[in-house]
Amino acid sequence: MSPLRELAHAKINLYLHVTGRRDDGYHLLDSLAVFAGAADELRLEQGAGRGGHVGLRIEGTFAPGLQDDCADNLIVRAGALLRAHVGPERAHRLPDVDIVLRKELPVASGIGGGSADAAAALRLLLKAWGLSISRADLMALATRLGADVPVCLDQMPARMEGIGEELTPAPALPPCGMMLVNCGQSVSTPQVFKSRAPGFTPRAGLPARWDMLADMVRDLSAQTNDLQDAACAICPEITTVLDALRAAPGCRLARMSGSGATCFALFDSPEAAQAAVPVVRQGKWWVWAGDLCRTGARLESPTDSLPA
Ligand code: C5P
Repeated sequence: MSPLRELAHAKINLYLHVTGRRDDGYHLLDSLAVFAGAADELRLEQGAGRGGHVGLRIEGTFAPGLQDDCADNLIVRAGALLRAHVGPERAHRLPDVDIVLRKELPVASGIGGGSADAAAALRLLLKAWGLSISRADLMALATRLGADVPVCLDQMPARMEGIGEELTPAPALPPCGMMLVNCGQSVSTPQVFKSRAPGFTPRAGLPARWDMLADMVRDLSAQTNDLQDAACAICPEITTVLDALRAAPGCRLARMSGSGATCFALFDSPEAAQAAVPVVRQGKWWVWAGDLCRTGARLESPTDSLPA
């Protein structure tokens, strides 16, 4: 991938346990996150001036309803945080840039699209501005943008704990295929957390690797997405999506990702997932099928200092 382009892959929670609650209201999680081939694309264009201003233009399937240059957009906020981190002296000399976002992932849909965009923006801006910051600082900046942003920096399968920012490598994954289905309704993450049934689930026990999909499906079937029932109560069409996925030929496991509404299904191969698409597709549902993203996007050796 050219240094001026980054893919922001969909993050899928294969299971999600709510293990506790912090005093500030954030929930403690234990979740296994993987990344699907489905992605937004960010392209960076050099602006005319200096000052480190980040402009944002949005195009693509899910652009309608999103605003260019919106200060609340996580891409714009990522730029502002990075500028603040380097300090006004240095930020003043940074070239202005425009980021063009091709939005191909559904918005507010439990697959971390906004978080993946923010992480991709951080990767792009570090390259474009020739900055190198410590891994610890980068993780702290990412966490300030959102609990899902740290895992999206590397886009590698990872176990997420804490509020999502404590990352350890996932078990080695077997070959498989994945289908994603979103019914077109966005679900509010805070509302889902608030309306879930009280109580906490213990951490899952995970092996070091899964050689066969059958082993992974057996272990994942014993886990849950603790937000699924609450999201289905808020958006009943999620249940229809899950039923359609479970009925699809070759589906090995179907579950909701994150706080919904997107659901995923695991298949023996990307081809098996693609073959089931016509059976699953209904009305205006967004459907994607393919492989997991297995390459990641890990930044090359961030150092502990900013260049002079
Ligand atoms: O961190 P992020 O902005 O993605 O979180 C959105 C909302 O989701 C939070 O304001 C909080 O209500 C809820 N949340 C939570 N516990 C987490 C992650 C998110 O309660 N670990």
